[in-house]
Parts: sequence; structure tokens; C-alpha cells
Amino acid sequence: MIKIVVFDAYGTLFDVYSIAALAEKLFPGQGTALSSLWRDKQVEYTRLVTMSDTEGPAGSRYYQSFEELTAASLRYCCHRLGLTLLPEHERQLMAQYTHLTAFPENIQVLKALRQQGLRTAILSNGNLEMLKPAVDSAGMTTLLDEIISVASLRRFKTAPQCYDLVLRTFPVEKQEVLFVSSNAWDALGATWFGFTTLWVNRQHLPFETIGPKPSYTGSSLEKTLEIVAASIS
Ligand code: LAC
Repeated sequence: MIKIVVFDAYGTLFDVYSIAALAEKLFPGQGTALSSLWRDKQVEYTRLVTMSDTEGPAGSRYYQSFEELTAASLRYCCHRLGLTLLPEHERQLMAQYTHLTAFPENIQVLKALRQQGLRTAILSNGNLEMLKPAVDSAGMTTLLDEIISVASLRRFKTAPQCYDLVLRTFPVEKQEVLFVSSNAWDALGATWFGFTTLWVNRQHLPFETIGPKPSYTGSSLEKTLEIVAASIS
């Protein structure tokens, strides 16, 4: 039985499209390339700092916050694409991260879950300074029980300790957690960890070719309502 629904943040709850739109405005013809390279490099840097140290209890020595890694990866990508990133461009692009909109169905889904007595939370690689204003700006503050950031661990998903934060926050068993992500790698990491998982495949991509499939796949967050209904019937 599902008792709590935990969401990844970027791309899952928050629509990051506005970042690509601004990138296109600042660098005409390069917006899509920049935003997609930026996202890949950002994720790569989170893995780099997480993997490059022995996993002591204090976390990685090379840790930098998600915000710092996001800015560093933006600088790299502009350099790589031959784009001149002025401080003002960087400020505007980074500011987009705190002013994201929710995907259209998300607010209704969060409300419906809470009406059914379920707990809801975010588990994100983002640090709270980035996440809180974004949650506010998307109108989700009263619809979430917790915003869990991995920052206290000084490592990032898909390190199992990051998924374990959910179990340290709520008194539930792994299978009672429905973890929802639109990032296939995150859905896979959470499936490996032992959560019940939903991969929200908004872009109709193939799933990863390693590991088990997630417990469920859907094309929008509405699928969570179906899964929860089936789990309590
Ligand atoms: C997060 C990123 C990975 O919110 O989407 O954790």
C-alpha cells in the first residue's frame, strides 16, 4: 500500500521549459543546444563530486551545492558552444531556476493526493535555497509535507543514502513510497533502492537499457492517482 508520494523536482514537478526559452532569447539559434548540454553537464558534475571520494559519513570532500554546480556547468557549456556568457546572462539564467512553473496537471494531482490522506514530498538534488522559492513560485507550498534536499549529505542522487533520507523523514517502509521522476536515471536509482517507482515519460523517450524497469511508467503526473487508487483497493 502506498502511503507517501515523493517527487523529484526539476522536470518532474517543475517545467524547466522557461530555461530553454530564455537561453534561446539570449543566444538565438542555440537555446535548445545550450539548455540540453547544460542539463547533462549539471547532472555529470553531481555524479563527479559524489563518486570521486570514498563514501565517509561526512559526504564528499569535493561537494559543491547544486546551485554552484549548476552555475559552473553553465559556464562550461557556454565556453564549449563558443557563447559569451556575460554576468547578466548568468544571473538571468540562474534566476529562472527559482521561477519555474508547474506542469499543468501537477497542482490538481497534489491536491487530490492530499485529499486522499497521502503525504507528499520532494526529494531533490537541489539545495533548499533553490527549491523553496521554486516551490513558492509554482504555488505548491501548502501542498507538500516536506521539501527534502540531499544537501545535508554532501552527495547527490543516485547515491542510496539520498533516497534513504525519505525513510529518515517519514516512518514508512521502502515499498510504501511511490517515488516519481521524469528522469529515467533517477527512476532507475530509486527502483534499485527499493521504492515503488513511477517514471513520468513526458518526452516519449526510451527507458535506460540497464537495470530493472520502474514499477510504473506514465506520460503525466495523473498516473500517480491511478497507482494510489489501485494500491488501496
Ligand atoms: C532533482 C533533479 C535531478 O530535482 O531533477 O533532483
